[in-house]
Amino acid sequence: MDSISHLMTDDHRRCDHLFAEAEQQVANKNWELAGKNAHAFNAAILHHFQHEESTLFPAFEKATGMQGGPTHMMRHEHEQMRQLLAELMDAIDAQNQDRYLGLSETLLIFMQQHNMKEEQILYPMIDQECAEDSEQLMAGLHSTPENSNAA
Ligand SMILES: [Fe+2]
Ligand SMILES: [Fe+2]
Repeated sequence: MDSISHLMTDDHRRCDHLFAEAEQQVANKNWELAGKNAHAFNAAILHHFQHEESTLFPAFEKATGMQGGPTHMMRHEHEQMRQLLAELMDAIDAQNQDRYLGLSETLLIFMQQHNMKEEQILYPMIDQECAEDSEQLMAGLHSTPENSNAA
């Protein structure tokens, strides 16, 4: 049976894949592909954050009555990553390899730690606390029409 944990972990891997592709293309100075992949990564991860903040986290907060707990911390980390992402997109648009690779290294460490906390702690808690609504919560991740035009 599918779970929120499983679905969201898969989505982390999808974002990781786009991120790795972009980094590789930047390393090769293949700017056209690098730009495509970097913007696809940016759109995918922002959509993922949005789904967590507008759907999953509120469901968890409602089920547990916990507002200042793990979801608060995750929202704060999203904000920090959004700033890094904005800088990363500036670097890709400027075709600045050193800056891009420096920022992507910082972002990678951030993402790995953030995703690990969600995958090992928060998502399993959400699976447990929100079991009754899980189908509806899962449907939300991919039901949003493409709203980010990377080009
Ligand atoms: Fe997150
Ligand atoms: Fe996540």
